[in-house]
Amino acid sequence: MLPLSQFVLWAGIRCNTCKMKPSKQHVLLLWILLCSTVIKATEPFRSFKFPDFEETWNSMWGESCNSYWISFNQKGLKADLRNKLFGQHIASDIIFKAVSGFMKDNNPKKPLVLSLHGTAGTGKNFVSQLIADNVYKKGYHSKFVHVLSAILHFPHQSEIVTYKSQLQEWIKNRVKNCERSIFIFDEMDRIPPGLIDSIKPYLDYGKVEGVFFQKSIIIFLSNTGADQITKTAVDFWKNGKDREEMMLKDFESFLSPIVFNSDQSGFSKSTFLYSCLVDVFIPFLPLEYKHVVQCAMAAMRDEGLRPDEDVANQVARGLHYYPKLEKVFAVIGCKTVVNRVHLYR
Ligand SMILES: Nc1ncnc2c1ncn2[C@@H]1O[C@H](COP(=O)(O)OP(=O)(O)OP(=O)(O)O)[C@@H](O)[C@H]1O
Ligand SMILES: [Mg+2]
Repeated sequence: MLPLSQFVLWAGIRCNTCKMKPSKQHVLLLWILLCSTVIKATEPFRSFKFPDFEETWNSMWGESCNSYWISFNQKGLKADLRNKLFGQHIASDIIFKAVSGFMKDNNPKKPLVLSLHGTAGTGKNFVSQLIADNVYKKGYHSKFVHVLSAILHFPHQSEIVTYKSQLQEWIKNRVKNCERSIFIFDEMDRIPPGLIDSIKPYLDYGKVEGVFFQKSIIIFLSNTGADQITKTAVDFWKNGKDREEMMLKDFESFLSPIVFNSDQSGFSKSTFLYSCLVDVFIPFLPLEYKHVVQCAMAAMRDEGLRPDEDVANQVARGLHYYPKLEKVFAVIGCKTVVNRVHLYR
């Protein structure tokens, strides 16, 4: 099918070669534009479509919950996880498989629920951003991406009853507005225990009160279990094993019991444990010196600066590492790297 802009151009060129008066040419062009609007308005009753008109229409009226604004880029996600996320081979592999499988399924039984765990600055928020970037045209800035921060949105334990009903209503309305929504619960370790139970029915069943939840993605982020993840990584390293030998099963056995038994996980005493609504608990490994260097190089590239290895090494040397003697893992990962790059340039 000839795109509208090319058709208008073609009609214009044809008119230049025909003997039509300029005023009549304008009327003809106006007529073509009018017809295309009428055709678009009568969709889906007609199969006739002007592809680039649809694009113009969508961008004119802002972001909507349709396939123009929401279309999963599987290759993009794979490339982003491979090229932008450093030192997280387990998270990268599991997230790619889980999100791809889920997004390709047009009729999932339940929402995809991921729980990401690890120490500071290891990429939990960052990876959530990469997922959103490859689901929405507007990426992380899409109005269908909702980030809830424990500190910002649920600061008072005493308000739990109010929070519960507000959260239920709020999520229901967001999903009613768009089934393909992403909810990110940041700092889960600070969320009042029991609050998440209020949305359990939404994560459990496909449809609640006429709202379909099964196409949404829920991501929980927390530091719960980070000490044990760190211990496992240190043990691997001390035993002379490769970082890449660590597998999901090395963490799965302890991660979910810790999350549900910890007093500070946001899940504690939660019925979640019994209904197994979290699809997968994903460990984020502590980052090493070489990963901090990679983060610094990426930070310079992102800011349009020429990546400088000397600067990146200075940034990495400026951070603290553990264990005390061996100094292998960065205490705060890549957390402050973006800003520290400027100190050494
Ligand atoms: N594994 C990583 N690969 C690439 N960049 C990373 C990685 N981890 C962290 N970064 C960089 O550091 C910044 C901060 O990381 P992020 O906010 O994702 O940490 P976090 O795991 O959520 O930590 P916290 O537990 O403190 O919230 C990111 O925006 C990104 O630039
Ligand atoms: Mg974070």
